[in-house]
Amino acid sequence: MSFVLETLKNLLLSYLRNFIHKDFHATVERMTLIDKISFTMIHFVDTLKMWHRLPVFLGLFYLAIRRHLHQQYNLINVGRTPTGVRSNPADYPYRTADGKYNDPFNDASGSEFSFFGRNMMPVDQNNELTKPDPMVVATKLLARKKFIDTGKQFNMIAVAWIQFMIHDWIDHLEDTQQIELKAPEEVASECPLKSFKFYKSKKTSTGFYEIKTGHLNRRTPWWDGSVIYGSDEDVLKKVRTFKDGKLKLSADGLLEQDSNGKIISGDVRNPWAGLLALQALFVHEHNLVCDTLKKEYPELEDEDLYRHARLVTSAVIAKIHTIDWTVELIKTDTLLAGMRANWYGLLGKRFKDVFGHVGGSILGGIVGMKKPQNYGVPYSLTEEFTSVYRMHQLLPEKLQLRNVDAAPGPNKSLPLINEIPMEDLIRVKGEEHLSKVGFIKQMVSMGHQASGALELWNYPVWMRNLIAQDVDGTDRPDHVDLAALEIYRDRERNVARYNEFRRRMLQIPISKWEDLTDDEEAIKTLREVYGDNVEEMDLLVGMAAEKKLKGFAISETAFFIFLLMASRRLEADRFFTSNYNEETYTKKGLEWANTTESLKDVLDRHYPGMTEKWMNSNSAFSVWDSSPEPPNPIPIYFRIPKQ
Ligand code: HEM
Repeated sequence: MSFVLETLKNLLLSYLRNFIHKDFHATVERMTLIDKISFTMIHFVDTLKMWHRLPVFLGLFYLAIRRHLHQQYNLINVGRTPTGVRSNPADYPYRTADGKYNDPFNDASGSEFSFFGRNMMPVDQNNELTKPDPMVVATKLLARKKFIDTGKQFNMIAVAWIQFMIHDWIDHLEDTQQIELKAPEEVASECPLKSFKFYKSKKTSTGFYEIKTGHLNRRTPWWDGSVIYGSDEDVLKKVRTFKDGKLKLSADGLLEQDSNGKIISGDVRNPWAGLLALQALFVHEHNLVCDTLKKEYPELEDEDLYRHARLVTSAVIAKIHTIDWTVELIKTDTLLAGMRANWYGLLGKRFKDVFGHVGGSILGGIVGMKKPQNYGVPYSLTEEFTSVYRMHQLLPEKLQLRNVDAAPGPNKSLPLINEIPMEDLIRVKGEEHLSKVGFIKQMVSMGHQASGALELWNYPVWMRNLIAQDVDGTDRPDHVDLAALEIYRDRERNVARYNEFRRRMLQIPISKWEDLTDDEEAIKTLREVYGDNVEEMDLLVGMAAEKKLKGFAISETAFFIFLLMASRRLEADRFFTSNYNEETYTKKGLEWANTTESLKDVLDRHYPGMTEKWMNSNSAFSVWDSSPEPPNPIPIYFRIPKQ
């Protein structure tokens, strides 16, 4: 009997192989039977290039299968996992300063200075660190020629937001040893810096055989608001007032400065005025949660108020990112339904508000699940996650400052006062600018300006001669060419180049430049830099060159990492799952998180009348003078994406 079954199975598998791209045969071989079948299904859809055109419910089905496969095959632990170090969640019903004790089975997972994980095995590039030269790649393929924007889709608040998130999640620890990159003669005259020095990424031994070294993350990768609270006890002490749970703010409502004139915040490295404004906004949010909880529960003391308010504020941030920011970045009905399902489940918000979390993560949503889930791999963010979030092209050359004293025109548009070069808005100059113009003018101006697009030849020129900072916000003496440095970083960290990256994320690789783009100028330049070797193309270049799907401000290649990791940030965290309850958050606190739906809600709370007066769009993350989406009578799961 088992012989017959085995023969049938082998026949089925050899039949399936006919439909599978040869590059995946070995990978599929290692999959379980169910996964082999699942893979064949999504692979078939991929060959037709049509998942994003499927009716929403089918598109969600495709994404669910894909996410499942990535959860099984694209989560790799780096570093030794301490076993036997268990903690009792009841001893830590709050987010610790350094991220420890979130995972009861692995106290260090997600903590400050834990390892970056991986979504695929490293690809050693030790002998190809300068092949082709990063300065050549930056000059010929990345450097902005003329600003390309995202139309009305994505604004400068959205750009500040994603830096706000990066500074919550990731920062690679550097070595003390410097290296220098020199511009080759063929591009030297076009490079703002003829050479530059920077610190290597610090390699740390993992004690493992397969992946021998890894990199440590200075920031806690949990979605714990460390951008305002810090990633350790020392910073946390600096930002807290130790009165009624609150954090420090200056009298003008912006971040406070210490006696040396340095801003006080959870993260003070490489800021600009937009990031500083968001940090201040969420300190207001935290403090208002403290006030509200104190009123409701007068017996709560400073420490308890701080702990509860941190949980609530972090949940508000995570929720805004999930159901507001992401759905503007990827503006399609399928993603709108998918991201809302991550938070509320397929049964939807109204159902969850009345009946609570019912069913598993699909029906009831990830948030509020009975147990966290890490798929057997301790939580971390990954090297590949860092690489796909290299989105400096979102930044323009100048910020357009608007006149908020003028009466708003059609669609609440506002006259331009002046344009300020971005380099005058970073570091200490950014703080000075923000305190001069104030929060409202900064926020409204960012709301009305489109972000840059993630395309070739759109990397900010000013970032090729950038003063980078130390962890404590001190300027470094050596300027860097960030475009070239980013190319080098991915190679140094052994992140696969574009085509191999796709393969390992189960995406069909390209075999010629024409598979990537139909832009002839792009193809010509890609050939100039990489010859005909498509395997050599850097990930950052490929993601920019890739033809974008309709509604997508990012590449599909980056999106599949998001699909996996955005869910994981919620799913692996007990404060979004088993501890997302009244006992941990308080009744009032949970209500706060459950009734906040968007950044607009937060802005309205602290700056009443602001969005009413100046925002015409649906979301605070799309350009504010754009028209709101008209209501669509068709239930979302049955919509067919616009082509
Ligand atoms: C004015 C705004 C910004 C400045 C001055 C800035 C500057 C920098 C600098 C100096 C680095 C370190 C580079 C290195 O040594 O490897 C960096 C890393 C990075 N930045 Fe930005 N950045 C800004 C905005 C953004 C935005 C909008 C994003 C969008 C996602 C972003 C994403 C990243 C990522 C993913 C890294 C890598 C982090 C790591 O290696 O762990 N940055 N940025």
